[in-house]
Amino acid sequence: MHICRTKAAIRATVRDWRITGAPVVLVPTMGFLHDGHLSLMRIARERAGKDGRVVATIFVNPTQFGPGEDLDSYPRDEARDFDLLRGTGVDAVFAPDAHEIYDPQAQTIVETTELARMLIGKLRPGHFRGVATIVTKLFNIIRPDAAVFGEKDFQQLAVIRTMVRDLDMDIDIIGAPILREHDGLAMSSRNVRLGAEDRTAAPILARALNEAETMAPTGITASRLRSHVRATLEREPRAQVQSVDIRDAASLDSISGPLTRPAVILLAVKFGTVFLIDNRVVHPTKETT
Ligand code: PAF
Repeated sequence: MHICRTKAAIRATVRDWRITGAPVVLVPTMGFLHDGHLSLMRIARERAGKDGRVVATIFVNPTQFGPGEDLDSYPRDEARDFDLLRGTGVDAVFAPDAHEIYDPQAQTIVETTELARMLIGKLRPGHFRGVATIVTKLFNIIRPDAAVFGEKDFQQLAVIRTMVRDLDMDIDIIGAPILREHDGLAMSSRNVRLGAEDRTAAPILARALNEAETMAPTGITASRLRSHVRATLEREPRAQVQSVDIRDAASLDSISGPLTRPAVILLAVKFGTVFLIDNRVVHPTKETT
């Protein structure tokens, strides 16, 4: 596995592969990898096929953290990440530092205007501008044929798909299902920062989503379902509920009446200083598969 610290090094590595016509699949991460990330690597490996190449990136992107957020305390363990990546068939990892990525004179940003300002974008102003800008830069540096992103960051995935469509980026975006711990907590690098009591309390998100999934086909309105989910979360005293939203799963438009199409329930909850998100797509009729 090649470890590249500079744009020039990763560009040269990918350029050599391209000569053979091999597809390149990218998995951008902020490191501190867990099984959820490793499942993204496996999806990338499969998409790349036997002749293709997989590139992972590890970069804790400062521009997607707001003032007072957890940029400094975001967990990092690069040596462990490299070991884990070696076991998943990743061909190269790009792990630059912030100076390599951001020119102090830079003036250009990428922003999906409406999508970036709703939902998590309201709680974390500027967050999706940081995400769209770094992902564009990684796409331009590595020029992948496809890129894999986790569905846990549902709005992030929507932002990236919208950006790729709007800016005519010729990259296939692949969404990967959420992986969960044995008690339902969605895997996240931030989970290690939960204290013992918060860790015990945090699976309330998954339980609230499970209940909502069961209730969705009963003819309940989106507003009532939302109130029910919020009440379930609020019964857990350690949960500081930041937002509960139910949106059209395809467009992220607001809905309040009866569910007629698949809807996504989006949760943002803080435990102490740790900000967790989770989501579930629910259906107005029982799935028969
Ligand atoms: O999902 C993440 O880990 C980050 O937001 C991403 C896509 C790597 C951009 O920094």
